[in-house]
Amino acid sequence: MIVAIDGPAGAGKSTVARAVADAMGVGYVDTGAMYRALTLLAMRTGVDVSDGPALAELAREHPVTLEHGRAGLRVFIAGDDVTMAIREADVTANVSEVAAHPDVRAEMVARQRDIMGAGDWVSDGRDIGSVVCPDAEVKVFLTASVDERARRRHAELVARGEQVDLRAIRDDVERRDHADSSRAASPLVVADGAEIVDTTGMGIDEVVARIAGMAQEARG
Ligand code: DC
Repeated sequence: MIVAIDGPAGAGKSTVARAVADAMGVGYVDTGAMYRALTLLAMRTGVDVSDGPALAELAREHPVTLEHGRAGLRVFIAGDDVTMAIREADVTANVSEVAAHPDVRAEMVARQRDIMGAGDWVSDGRDIGSVVCPDAEVKVFLTASVDERARRRHAELVARGEQVDLRAIRDDVERRDHADSSRAASPLVVADGAEIVDTTGMGIDEVVARIAGMAQEARG
């Protein structure tokens, strides 16, 4: 069974997806982390983030791997643990451009389908229910208001000790919404058959229970 969770930046997808996977006792595929890892690799190796074919080649040469350990999901490229580095601001600022290239998406989608080809998985991203796993048994479009998503992202960064301005974060959330929804290749859309879950004012536990309940129902 596949549980596909898509939605805009800051809707809480990764927190929710990880918790749903834990509740179901299945693996979690964070596809945003895969695009982030490629962005980091491009920045480290000097590959231009506007050069789609070169980025796709880079992704083929150094496939991202996800490992589940006691400390949660860890992300590796070429044996190097980049779990923390892919969350840094310069990666966040460049990842939308990297993810917009059709060549890059083709490579990532193939890899994601490989990973989820057998067994049960929870995955989150922008195109899981629409492109990567259109036959997913459970499809959720997780969203929340722009203000709420900006507040959550702000709280997360402050908790990590970063000094950030809420206004700047709100602008970034809006900019990424626009970039992810208006790109030509696999824009963020509500997939056919997806249930829209608006998490504004909802607690994490409530959201997780709702999606785990949908999965249980689909399992029959
Ligand atoms: O969910 P996130 O913030 O880690 O995603 C990082 C970027 O990758 C974001 O700009 C959208 C893009 N992305 C995508 O285009 N398709 C996916 N399946 C997952 C993420």
